[in-house]
Amino acid sequence: MSTPFTVAVTGAAGQIGYALLYRLASGDLLGDRPVRLRLLEVEPALKALEGVVMELDDCAFPNLAGVEIGSDPRRMFDGANLAMLVGAMPRKAGMERSDLLTANGAIFTEQGRALAASAADDVRVVVTGNPANTNALIAYHNASGIPRERFSALTRLDHNRARALLAERAGRPVRDVTGMTIWGNHSTTQYPDVFNAKVCGVPADRWIADDGWINFDFIPTVARRGAAVIAARGSSSAASAANATIEHSRDWLLGTPEGEWTSMAVPSDGSYGVPDGLVSSFPVTCSGGDWSIVQGLPISAFAQAKIDASLGELQGERDAVRALGLI
Ligand code: NAI
Repeated sequence: MSTPFTVAVTGAAGQIGYALLYRLASGDLLGDRPVRLRLLEVEPALKALEGVVMELDDCAFPNLAGVEIGSDPRRMFDGANLAMLVGAMPRKAGMERSDLLTANGAIFTEQGRALAASAADDVRVVVTGNPANTNALIAYHNASGIPRERFSALTRLDHNRARALLAERAGRPVRDVTGMTIWGNHSTTQYPDVFNAKVCGVPADRWIADDGWINFDFIPTVARRGAAVIAARGSSSAASAANATIEHSRDWLLGTPEGEWTSMAVPSDGSYGVPDGLVSSFPVTCSGGDWSIVQGLPISAFAQAKIDASLGELQGERDAVRALGLI
């Protein structure tokens, strides 16, 4: 039997956690390889988390090699090969943006340090908790000794939403839509790029032949899909966010399919003029546990203006957390 793979999950008693843990334990991440779960929550949520663990036990998953819960990040990240940072401070009524950044800054500063202190040497980190890109920025700045390339933020949900919407419009199954890219921030300023995507191998804009739909319908629909789910369901995306967190991690660990790329927010190496170190979404391929940014995609003036707006927002967030002394 192979050595268990240790996955730490924060915010494990939350709604994404509830959709995520059973899939991790059932083999959706690494197939038959045994998985050990280490679940971090704030003290008041530990009781609820005990109930979640009871249900995990009751599933009798053959490849679940153990579950530990706790509220100390150093203990819960001990030996973690993968950390899914899902828990974050939600925006509450009357909260200013700077309050939100301060609250999350405290969480991701502490968790970055804890990862550096106790995670496995090969740890990889995906931040799902919002504001995801900037939380990842704070975490990597505070994780001295872990290469920044091991930190990422989730834009796979946006990527999947964009693929599904384009497939629907094209009248083709999702598998026929390739080469989708989300650029920028996981926020309403993101730029979902149809112009480098393909439908059945044909440039997607040519297949759709309706730039008005792409620019004024598709882009805002993808960017505001989270709010639409809240309006319909009464709570935010959870199953699809959990699914995206797993797909992001699986592609990173096991590789993207031959000839295809995905979207991940990663610390910029300066590609496409994105300022060095900013955690921005790019088209990436993964192989051997490493990602690399797909180079040379054409970016029109229209696309560049959209991407610049999202980068402006990310730089504003970076300036704010810098001013707070968090990075
Ligand atoms: P939730 O409120 O149901 O659960 C969050 C959990 O995190 C709570 O149980 C809370 O106790 C826990 N938590 C808070 N601070 C913590 C800390 N310091 N350490 C450990 N746990 C902590 O929220 P939900 O729906 O599960 O969403 C989680 C996050 O994911 C939110 O920030 C949400 O905005 C974000 N999200 C991101 C998406 C993406 O595509 N990047 C998509 C959907 C949600």
